[in-house]
Amino acid sequence: MPKNWWRDAVIYQIYPRSFGDSNGDGIGDLQGVFDHLDHLAWLGIDTVWLNPVMASPNTDFGYDVADYCDINPEYGTLDDFDRLVKEADSRGIRVMNDLVPNHTSDQHPWFADSRSSKDAVHRDWYVWADPKPDGSPPNNWLSEFGGDAWTLDETTGQYYLHLFLPTQPDLNWWNDDVRNAFDDILRFWFDRGVAGFRVDVCHAIVKDKDLRDNPQATDEDPPTVRVFGQRRVYSANRPEVHDVLKQWRKVGRTFDPERLFLGETYVWDMQQLVAFYGARDNEIQLGFNIPFVHARFDPGLMSDIVGNVQKLFPRHAWPVWTGSNHDAKRLATRWCDGDERKVRLALMLLLTLRGTPVLYYGDEIGLRDVDLTQDELRDPVGIRFWPAYSGRDGGRTPMQWSAERGAGFTTSSDPWLPIGDADVTNVEAQRSDEGSVLHLTRDLIALRKEFVSATYSKRTSPDGTWVYRRGKHVIALNMSDEPQKISRIRGVIRISTTRERDGQSFAGGLSLDGWEGVVVEAS
Ligand code: GLC
Ligand code: CA
Repeated sequence: MPKNWWRDAVIYQIYPRSFGDSNGDGIGDLQGVFDHLDHLAWLGIDTVWLNPVMASPNTDFGYDVADYCDINPEYGTLDDFDRLVKEADSRGIRVMNDLVPNHTSDQHPWFADSRSSKDAVHRDWYVWADPKPDGSPPNNWLSEFGGDAWTLDETTGQYYLHLFLPTQPDLNWWNDDVRNAFDDILRFWFDRGVAGFRVDVCHAIVKDKDLRDNPQATDEDPPTVRVFGQRRVYSANRPEVHDVLKQWRKVGRTFDPERLFLGETYVWDMQQLVAFYGARDNEIQLGFNIPFVHARFDPGLMSDIVGNVQKLFPRHAWPVWTGSNHDAKRLATRWCDGDERKVRLALMLLLTLRGTPVLYYGDEIGLRDVDLTQDELRDPVGIRFWPAYSGRDGGRTPMQWSAERGAGFTTSSDPWLPIGDADVTNVEAQRSDEGSVLHLTRDLIALRKEFVSATYSKRTSPDGTWVYRRGKHVIALNMSDEPQKISRIRGVIRISTTRERDGQSFAGGLSLDGWEGVVVEAS
């Protein structure tokens, strides 16, 4: 693999359950991904990351793994997976898997053994602790999905830890057998040709060995901490996680130094994010930027985050930019309120910043979240917190390939989640319209190659705008309703979000309509 290939890549996240259903059972599958590889190749995608496809009882849709070395039968077989990797490769597309090392399913044979007795071989593979004298949980840690992070298991009278659902018991990363087992799992998939892994819950794999109480949040803490009620000092972000990441890079290197680890680094502090890249290039190569994903679509807030990254990232660390995923839902709704002008700007932003963009399936057509009724919900988090929070399903609905019934996703009349406005938003219609969001995405992906390694420097510009230089290109985004004028710039517009100004030369400043953006080749 070429050195740092992932810097040039555009990563495309596929939620396999919702991408293509090849056998009409209403559930996406590996053959369905296979069937749409041409779309990805046409778009210019060179790397896909598949949300978990391993065997799972689906209490958290694949993030509860019952066998790390097999495929969920709903999605296909290992042979299907191998075929997919090979066929993708023949189109120049690399495949990444999702690795879920923080926890397994409670149906995993390791946990079945672990909970059977205190002397079980796998007892110490999970985090078990005695109740407090009054019978309450061992410490004050909370589950990310609500309630205590501990469940009492009657068989042995001890509690087990789960940072997520009770059906997702946390592994004990202080145990060397667990570490070795995961080295083997990495090798298993690297042997099958995966280019790398997205690492689930990367920041929280290792917990405090003494299981100390987390300190309570105070008024001084940021809202993201206050809402949780406590600082995750001992249940996440422990320094020892870095040993695990270093070890994984070593395992990766035995195959190819460029095998990729992309961390779900769910931290709000930029210094903490930087730490995951290692002191030199020996931990993860890419880490999601959570503050950016959750920022408001505001040029001041967003460019501050980018500026901070510029300032704090060491030379070997390379940023990631993303606006949608299977947890946060879709940028077209969250950032853009469904306004297509804003969607075009958001795509221009993601594809022109210095760093690797990760697009979520459907971003390329401006797919929006779908409103669901209570009985349509499948996400356990939505089911639990409805109606205060409807969960993540709205951003996990089927890909919209065409206007036909089933959206070209399925022939079933009962897809696992409802389909959105496929009659208006779909790949087929946008493919035959050169002015579409889909063509804009494709053209930006192609243009990005011209300045992929150029430095980023922000220019001063009027409030509501964001202007930055990438080599000889200048990107000017008007993220406001008002028309704006950018001074001291001349050149040729290579791509405009409306597509009406592509190829236009201008001198003596640049006028932008509300919510208009351009990539300029400056002269
Ligand atoms: C990560 C995943 C999310 C999952 C959770 C538990 O945050 O992205 O979808 O529910 O981990 O595995
Ligand atoms: Ca299917």
